[in-house]
Amino acid sequence: MSLDAARSIMAGARSIAVLTGAGISAESGVPTFRGPGGLWREYRSEDLATPDAFHADPRLVWEWYAWRRGLVARARPNAGHLALAALEGRSPSFALITQNVDGLHALAGSRSILEIHGSLWRTRCLVCGAVSEDRKSDPDRIPPRCPCGGLLRPDVVWFGEALPEDLLVRSIAAVEACEILLVVGSSGIVQPAASFAEVALSRGIPVLEINLNPTPLTARATIALQGRSGELLPRLIS
Ligand code: OAD
Repeated sequence: MSLDAARSIMAGARSIAVLTGAGISAESGVPTFRGPGGLWREYRSEDLATPDAFHADPRLVWEWYAWRRGLVARARPNAGHLALAALEGRSPSFALITQNVDGLHALAGSRSILEIHGSLWRTRCLVCGAVSEDRKSDPDRIPPRCPCGGLLRPDVVWFGEALPEDLLVRSIAAVEACEILLVVGSSGIVQPAASFAEVALSRGIPVLEINLNPTPLTARATIALQGRSGELLPRLIS
């Protein structure tokens, strides 16, 4: 019933915005942050994905990123990623905001992607600020160094850091302009992404949530579908 209602809202929408979180990549074998497999050695992601953790022990944090790069390098987009790419292809206006740093949306063929938490596949120099693509899943030297000699960090957003301003502005603009917002596989507890649904709801824009489990958004969403995104998204858009 909810799926039918969701399909009919989707069918009439000319402008669609989507926010994805780690859950959409779970069926590709990429562990979510807070679910099973979210631990690495004895560390939680909240302990490692911080500027303080990096300054205290850059080697440890890079070992964690090398492990994640290895996992993601073997992962392939799943049916959920592919459904969103297909949806973009037939929507007059479409924006995909993702908290994921794995690059699987691009591999699936999505184009209008706002990677608000950065990318696992880029580094940034702490000294000269140069941003470079780096696809090695096992950096030869950990922690890696820039040609200028500076320490390189992953070009991702860590806890306590601000999102890049331009991406935040473009994301909010996309949410404000859409006719429906889909929130897929996001735990809804990490700001500011978690507030995008509130922006939409405050403007009377329907919010459709797809998640395996209830989240803080579930009770407020216009429609909440509980299940795997790799199963529900293809049915939603078919
Ligand atoms: P979380 O790991 O917090 O949450 C994953 C969500 O996906 C949960 O709500 C699960 O119920 C749901 N889920 C799991 N498998 C699913 C499936 N097959 N289909 C649909 N839903 C599924 O991940 P995020 O909310 O993305 O930030 O976490 C947000 C941010 O916290 C990450 O971007 C990262 C992290 O620490 C930074 O590193 C700054």
